Amino acid sequence: MQASLASYAAAAMPTLDLRPEMAHAHQPAMSPSHHAWDGNGAAVAPTPMPKRLDGKVAIVTGGARGIGEAIVRLFVKHGARVVIADIDDAAGEALASALGPQVSFVRCDVSVEEDVKRAVDWAQSRHGGRLDVYCNNAGVLGRQTRAAKSILSFDAGEFDRVLRVNALGAALGMKHAALAMAPRRAGSIVSVASVAGVLGGLGPHAYTASKHAIVGLTKNASCELGAHGIRVNCVSPFGVATPMLINAWRQGHDDAGDADLDLDITVPSDEEVEKMEEVVRGFATLKGPTLRPRDIAEAVLFLASDESRYISGHNLVVDGGVTTSRNLIGL
Ligand SMILES: NC(=O)c1ccc[n+]([C@@H]2O[C@H](COP(=O)([O-])OP(=O)(O)OC[C@H]3O[C@@H](n4cnc5c(N)ncnc54)[C@H](O)[C@@H]3O)[C@@H](O)[C@H]2O)c1
Repeated sequence: MQASLASYAAAAMPTLDLRPEMAHAHQPAMSPSHHAWDGNGAAVAPTPMPKRLDGKVAIVTGGARGIGEAIVRLFVKHGARVVIADIDDAAGEALASALGPQVSFVRCDVSVEEDVKRAVDWAQSRHGGRLDVYCNNAGVLGRQTRAAKSILSFDAGEFDRVLRVNALGAALGMKHAALAMAPRRAGSIVSVASVAGVLGGLGPHAYTASKHAIVGLTKNASCELGAHGIRVNCVSPFGVATPMLINAWRQGHDDAGDADLDLDITVPSDEEVEKMEEVVRGFATLKGPTLRPRDIAEAVLFLASDESRYISGHNLVVDGGVTTSRNLIGL
């Protein structure tokens, strides 16, 4: 049977030899400006960063931490007013109040239709009836124990639980976002799928099925919603050292039986983040950069903004080439 990325990671992590330059392996601070260079390569005065979502209203599900938090922060930097829709009240409220009045939090379980509708209603009532961007980012990985990963011990309840959040949640988001966007004949829906929606062997069965479902839903919904001026795309990340991936590694280690660890993920330590990033770098085709939440947020920002105004039905894979090649001939 194929093992998941997390279980490979679990096997690899104890023997890691961290390079000193990785010891600070966290997201660099984002600058509100960017530097221009003159013809001799010398820096000239910083120019303000163009705001690519200026005046737009966005909802980010699962925006309280991890990749979703990075999306929220980048959207705000680019001038958006953002609603964080999450089940983690404490983290969501804290992030919203840290980022200022242009950000608010609404409790929303994406697998519950009334919650999704309420989040959309909240965004519209707060922001003059607008909704420009809906990011379906909330997701769960499901259990990582050996039994949970085998199709021979397939658990219908687990499958249902993961599909309800990842696939049903994305479909409900598309529905209510589209209903809100259609009257203005504009909008961008961006879902966060996964490389597990492209290739087998990168996640548990339920997760893999759910992420393939998001890619399919993206194509189908874009087909229908194009007539209303609404674009529908998705982004598929490779491994990012968020609480989700690190929690999976922890489960791989203690083979945690029936524990529902998805909903009880503790904040990873710096050391865990560094080790996980080293593991992911080891699997990567593109050597050099470390995949970070900010990289996924940049891809989502592109699809959310008018820069991608003619792109719809697309799956933007952010994996440094992992899913497009297998080097069998020593290239
Ligand atoms: N981290 C990775 O390596 C990776 C790789 C590929 C795809 N993804 C996808 O990226 C997305 C974000 O993942 P992450 O790594 O940041 O995970 P995470 O667990 O760190 O964060 C997920 C967020 O979603 C929220 N959430 C969970 N269930 C929810 C629900 N039912 N309703 C609303 N909010 C809910 C959580 O409270 C949390 O804030 C997920 O869809 C995940 O499948 C992650």
